[in-house]
Amino acid sequence: MAKAAVSHPLFARIYPRINAFAEAHGSVEHRQEMLAGIHGRVIEIGPGLGSNFVHYPAEVEQVVAIEPEARLRAVAEQAAAKAAVPVEVRAGRAEELPADDDSFDVAVFSLVLCTITDVPAALAEARRVLKPGGELRFYEHVRSERPRFFRMQRLLNPLWGLLGGGCHLTRDTERAIQEAGFTAKEIRRFDFLINGRASPASPSIIGTARPST
Ligand SMILES: C[S@@+](CC[C@H](N)C(=O)[O-])C[C@H]1O[C@@H](n2cnc3c(N)ncnc32)[C@H](O)[C@@H]1O
Repeated sequence: MAKAAVSHPLFARIYPRINAFAEAHGSVEHRQEMLAGIHGRVIEIGPGLGSNFVHYPAEVEQVVAIEPEARLRAVAEQAAAKAAVPVEVRAGRAEELPADDDSFDVAVFSLVLCTITDVPAALAEARRVLKPGGELRFYEHVRSERPRFFRMQRLLNPLWGLLGGGCHLTRDTERAIQEAGFTAKEIRRFDFLINGRASPASPSIIGTARPST
């Protein structure tokens, strides 16, 4: 069973700067690509600062955002107030979503499946709360497919996790999504380069998946 509360004071302090830097170098476009064309009721898991909120299309009826870290949740609440679509921020964890069965059209994970303690439980919860025909949208950094790069990620992983609020560099998130009973509809795999340079978190995926029947 995952811990009930998530507390990452150092990460909550440094993430606004990391996120602003990434957004200035392309992650805004990645967020927009992830959210393109969605509509209806959306559940976003681990919204952090609420950076996706301004990018939800007008066709979105409501976003319920589940954030377990109190400091980040306070920032997300401010972002929710500025969003063009209704956003409700709730305390809670991915592994035990405070939401009814079959109640959302879309579940959104961005840069969060790298951090969640129990990924299979989180994806099972996403399946539970999605309506029949609902879909998963995700934007995640992942383990590299290149053996040398992956060895470097594995080496850096413990320190990365300490500074990054429990973030992992080595997760095969595409596989985890498939193993949780989703079928990928579209996945774009790319290296998120900043000024032409790779970081340990460059290998990334953006995609859509649906519960397998
Ligand atoms: C790197 S931040 C990403 C924030 C945001 N999704 C974004 O795209 O910028 C990781 C987020 O996952 C959240 N998180 C960590 N463990 C979680 C859990 N068990 N359930 C839900 N969210 C979690 C953290 O509090 C943080 O907000």
